[in-house]
Amino acid sequence: MANDTFLRACRRESTAYTPVWLMRQAGRYMKEYMAIREKRSFLEMCKTPEIACEVTLQPIKAFDLDAAIIFADILLPLEGMGIGFEFTKNEGPLIRNPVRERGHIDAIKVIKPEEDVPYLLDAIKMVKAELNGKVPLIGFSGAPFTLASYIIEGEGSRNYVHTKKLMYGDPGAWKVLMDKISDVVIVYLNAQIDAGVQAVQLFDSWVGCLGPDDYREYALPYTKRVLSSIKKSVPAINFSANTGTYLDLIREAGGDVVGVDWRRRLDDAWMTIGHDIAIQGNLDPAALFAPPAEIRKRAREILETAGGRPGHIFNLGHGIIVGTPVDSVRVLIDSVHEFSRK
Ligand code: CP3
Repeated sequence: MANDTFLRACRRESTAYTPVWLMRQAGRYMKEYMAIREKRSFLEMCKTPEIACEVTLQPIKAFDLDAAIIFADILLPLEGMGIGFEFTKNEGPLIRNPVRERGHIDAIKVIKPEEDVPYLLDAIKMVKAELNGKVPLIGFSGAPFTLASYIIEGEGSRNYVHTKKLMYGDPGAWKVLMDKISDVVIVYLNAQIDAGVQAVQLFDSWVGCLGPDDYREYALPYTKRVLSSIKKSVPAINFSANTGTYLDLIREAGGDVVGVDWRRRLDDAWMTIGHDIAIQGNLDPAALFAPPAEIRKRAREILETAGGRPGHIFNLGHGIIVGTPVDSVRVLIDSVHEFSRK
């Protein structure tokens, strides 16, 4: 592989500079993406391997990134689970019949990736061939809690009332649902690993709505089972957002790398999870709307908090925001490399 800096950092090996990739690096902030998106729906793009491949590579061609992430969405396994959803115009996904009762939970199927998401596995193989070892390819899945909350709420949520109502009111049903989703996540990630991804990331974007005791009881056991059951041949990144007050528990859930957001300083976060594990993060995505000099300053500050220790992967603390200036993305990536080069 021409550039294995990202994989070396996942293993906490020394690197010539700090590797950087950005969550949601392929997307609507790029004009190359919008040119395709104008003619196709988001799901159509995900389900057409040639397009998913092209879009995955757009940011790799535009910037000096150290990893690619396959173009897909955390909701792609839903169809095979028997949960219908649609993307409403401009608003995002909607599940018209959300899962809130035991009968509906019992009807959920564990997917067969080769039958239910063949397009994703084809896209991975295609990207691998195109990359030809330039940088590693990351596969991903939603973590059990974030997937459960989406299929229970049916759309984005502020207070997660339906999720918590089920969790607190019928813990037995919650366990059945989370066990099933965990089984899905395991086969989904293993299929991506078999198709050739060189690392995987779990996105627990919504789990921060839980306090520490609820995380320990209702989410941790499932994330832990996923991370201990998937194939060990590639590193796993355990990313969550809004969990800065219980990063010790996030670490307990497992993964080779813990992904953190910007609500804790990186040095505090690393101290909490322990220096015997790699860390990914943690620039506020909104900082990319600041002037270039401020972006450079913030990149330098985060690198300083990492202190040159091996095992830091630079990233945002969550996905790129729509409307982010492309030039700011370039400034960030180039300054991370410049300031960290040994
Ligand atoms: O880093 C990556 O590129 C990973 C790919 C990824 C996408 N969505 C691509 C996407 C990941 C990890 C997600 C996460 C996701 N998707 C979550 C978890 C919360 C989060 O933001 O981390 C949820 C709930 C979804 C479901 C979903 N997909 C929503 C709510 C939306 C609409 C809002 C939005 O951001 O557009 C999508 C669409 C989506 N997922 C797009 C992309 C690139 C935009 C598609 C488009 O309209 O062109």
